[in-house]
Amino acid sequence: MGNHEISDRHDRRYCSLLENAFGQRNGPMRLLITGVCGFVGSAIAQSLLERMENLTVIGIDNLIRPGSELNRMKLTQIGVKFVHGDIRQASDLDAIPPADCVIDAAANPSVLAGLQQDFTSRQLFEHNLAGLSNILEYCKRYKSTLILLSSSRVYSIPALTSLPLKVCDETFHIDDSLPLAPGVTARGIGVEFSTKPPVSLYGAMKLASEAVALEYGHAFGFPVWIDRCGVLAGAGQFGTPFFRTGSTHICEDFRFAILVSKEPDGRFEMSFTRGTSRAF
Ligand SMILES: NC(=O)c1ccc[n+]([C@@H]2O[C@H](COP(=O)([O-])OP(=O)(O)OC[C@H]3O[C@@H](n4cnc5c(N)ncnc54)[C@H](O)[C@@H]3O)[C@@H](O)[C@H]2O)c1
Repeated sequence: MGNHEISDRHDRRYCSLLENAFGQRNGPMRLLITGVCGFVGSAIAQSLLERMENLTVIGIDNLIRPGSELNRMKLTQIGVKFVHGDIRQASDLDAIPPADCVIDAAANPSVLAGLQQDFTSRQLFEHNLAGLSNILEYCKRYKSTLILLSSSRVYSIPALTSLPLKVCDETFHIDDSLPLAPGVTARGIGVEFSTKPPVSLYGAMKLASEAVALEYGHAFGFPVWIDRCGVLAGAGQFGTPFFRTGSTHICEDFRFAILVSKEPDGRFEMSFTRGTSRAF
């Protein structure tokens, strides 16, 4: 998969991935979504159930994200089999029946996670990296396809903040009249771009998750797909001060953008989920 594509294509890409993976099957397909009550997990569950026949969605979530409880009822109403559990607990995953595919959307998605007192570096490690081991053991056991939601945060912050930029129509664009590093084009960042540290603690957990997942898939013979999403925003997202600030001026026809800040933390990369962000 590419890494910085219009994010409302994610649904279609997941659909076609699942359809390809299970096209030869005659029976029903079973999908497990971790973090199913979150912004991304719930949107994927809803969209795939609308688009695919013979699909059963099982979802696990520990409801740690404030607001995620609100999605629980909606998801069960559309047929998602909800399990209140935690990916850090092996026994919670062990209790889930076999699935043909797993979409891993359980994590703390904040680039500042681990740096603040309300979510420590140890918590970040446990939720965003260690918990993956239970998902990988599950995939190993059932030979389930794994789709891992990674992040553009895996890219080197110094390399990002050194990108040559120009301003067009009051937005930053990559200045491709100048020499560009490997993986950079006028359209944005590709997978060949540097992942040299620092990438943020959050980004490092994602990068490590990718490596471990790919190794598991290789060693134990199950397919692994990594989707390096940019910042996703849209209706239904649980707000944080950063998102409220960063999304104030986003409108619905602004469907794809990578805005690379010259700020030291390089925070403003964004791509967008379906529909409007005016709600912010
Ligand atoms: N939102 C973005 O901009 C963005 C960008 C790139 C990648 N991603 C990735 O996409 C995935 C989903 O992000 P999101 O925006 O939906 O986040 P979110 O916070 O809205 O959803 C995450 C869900 O996972 C659950 N969860 C967290 N830890 C868990 C655990 N240990 N066990 C079970 N459930 C747990 C939370 O309760 C929440 O419902 C994450 O992996 C995130 O890193 C998000």
